Amino acid sequence: MTNSASILAELQHYIDQILASEQASVTLAAIDDHPADNSNLLTILNALIIEGDRHHADNWAAHMTPAISCESLLGQLIAGLHNGNLLSPQLYPTLARIEQQIIDWLCQLFQQQHGHFIAGSSYANLEALWQARQHHPDKRHIVYASETAHYSIAKACQILDLELRCIATDKNGQLCPTILQQACEKQSPLAIVATAGTPTLGIIDPLEDCIKLAQQYQAWCHIDAAWGGALSLLPEYRPLFDIISQADSICFDPHKGWHQPKPASVLLYQRPLTPMLYADADYLQHPPVNSLPGSRGGEFFLPLWLTLMHSGVDSLRQQIRLRLDQADQFAIQLKQRTDWQIYRSPTGIVCFHPNQADLTDLVNKGILSQAKVAGKDVYRLVFASPNTTANAILTVLEPYF
Ligand SMILES: Cc1ncc(COP(=O)(O)O)c(C=O)c1O
Repeated sequence: MTNSASILAELQHYIDQILASEQASVTLAAIDDHPADNSNLLTILNALIIEGDRHHADNWAAHMTPAISCESLLGQLIAGLHNGNLLSPQLYPTLARIEQQIIDWLCQLFQQQHGHFIAGSSYANLEALWQARQHHPDKRHIVYASETAHYSIAKACQILDLELRCIATDKNGQLCPTILQQACEKQSPLAIVATAGTPTLGIIDPLEDCIKLAQQYQAWCHIDAAWGGALSLLPEYRPLFDIISQADSICFDPHKGWHQPKPASVLLYQRPLTPMLYADADYLQHPPVNSLPGSRGGEFFLPLWLTLMHSGVDSLRQQIRLRLDQADQFAIQLKQRTDWQIYRSPTGIVCFHPNQADLTDLVNKGILSQAKVAGKDVYRLVFASPNTTANAILTVLEPYF
């Protein structure tokens, strides 16, 4: 038996013990010089499994955290067991080939030339704006993004000492292109960030307008498709992704809309990245001088790769369709059965304002989340998991109708 095989066998034994352990309230032992009591530890691990189980429920729709399939989890387990570092790819030829294969496949899907995995779209947004600043010949420092863009854009601007100017949205929650144009006329930006799937409402900004304006003003156009990038697999969204392909950079999180475990995010570029710094790292074959991530192994991509290999791309496509259909079904039925104000999106997020009803109880159960739309309190349902159904959510909402 190899060392890894014996670890896997030990793991099986551990898992059996966890599942057989008593379900009880949890007391965390102190971290000190001594091992914790084994049965207490098993109880805590069992509690963690039960806590995460809510993501598999048919009424889980609070956040962009999907249920994870067995093959994704196996990919994550193997990545942990392998624990290689692709900064020295010559040591891990199989892992390196798999990474290249899936990056090539993603580049083709999003019609981009280069790309790499990264820990999440917060990091991807930061890196894309870093690249924008490195590429631009002038000393521009303005970034335009919609007022509903993800807060990581503001963080990235602060870190990079750039000035974020928020562009107002229209009544549909989309960035308003005429206001963007006026802003560009007033001051040319370093970059324009457009969102494909805003965090609260799941709205897609007018991407073509944003890209054209960026081209007109020689600015970098970055598309934050952390959530909406999942639609790239659906033929009916090809025209949208043909437009997106003209952007300078795009980020997308398989750990959101493709039901993968975190961290699994990808950042894709149209142009090759220029090294941004000199790195004194002779001990590495590929020092990461032109991208944010440092050490990395299969954790970013083995779960997704195994999912695609095990079930095929079409199975993932059907799962995405299924959850978008459930979001639509939910919105249609809620409209038929209530007079609540409903906000729909094409990306599987539905928000609503339930007049006087107080749904805090459902927020605490992880069924939905609370958000604000144009200053108004709303409840938000994210159909991120293929297990979530419209009927299950309607059943828990019914007493409030
Ligand atoms: C549109 C958008 N961009 C970026 C992010 C940040 O992604 P992460 O949490 O993976 O860093 C999110 C997270 O919800 C998001 O919805």
